[in-house]
Amino acid sequence: MKRILLEETSSTNDYIRQFLEEGEDVVVCARRQSAGRGTKGRSFLSEEGGVYLSKLTFYKNLPAGEAFRVMTHAAVAVCRTAERFGARPELKWPNDVLAERKKLAGILIENILEGDRVKASVVGIGLNVSNPLTGLEDIAVRLKELSSLPPSAEEVRDALIWELGRESSFSDYLSYVRFLGRTVSVTEGERQYTAVARELLPDGRLLVTAAGERRLLSAAEISIGW
Ligand code: BTN
Repeated sequence: MKRILLEETSSTNDYIRQFLEEGEDVVVCARRQSAGRGTKGRSFLSEEGGVYLSKLTFYKNLPAGEAFRVMTHAAVAVCRTAERFGARPELKWPNDVLAERKKLAGILIENILEGDRVKASVVGIGLNVSNPLTGLEDIAVRLKELSSLPPSAEEVRDALIWELGRESSFSDYLSYVRFLGRTVSVTEGERQYTAVARELLPDGRLLVTAAGERRLLSAAEISIGW
């Protein structure tokens, strides 16, 4: 697979879009990003020392209703990579990888749909290795703190690319989910409430119970009550 390594770009998720017409899978990595993007229009701090990578994958037959498979595959690859370097990762639905209760990596997926199929997906991953956390020390963690032998960003990047090439299943994804049965605070638009996380469905929805009612969440955020 074609691999492109950049010193700097605004966002690897944006840079990679020029390859959409070529129809071939490609990975783009940057040492730093000047305008890294997170989910929900947030920015993603991307200073040198971290891994900032996007992978463009084309699909022949992926129904849009099964698009969550793109997320589970990426999340498992990140968790397996983090484990290789001594971390004990866990997943916070829908797109964060935590270690020691702090954010280790974030995943931003942008799917390109054609009718009711996913034609291609851009999977963007930002993983903290030894990049400065600049004020985010209370909520973010780096592999540097979790490894007995702190790895370089290049080693982690190469391991992640390799892991992205491996197969994984929904049960592999579930093996990194540890918040089921726990109390979570749910933010759904303007609404915020406490719930118990019950089950993650293969289509990516999270079943919670709140005030005795079952609710299926698809576009919410949770924070885990430790
Ligand atoms: C999140 O935590 O909200 C998702 C963060 C995703 C960051 C990665 S870094 C590589 C790729 N390029 C971007 O601009 N964003 C993703």
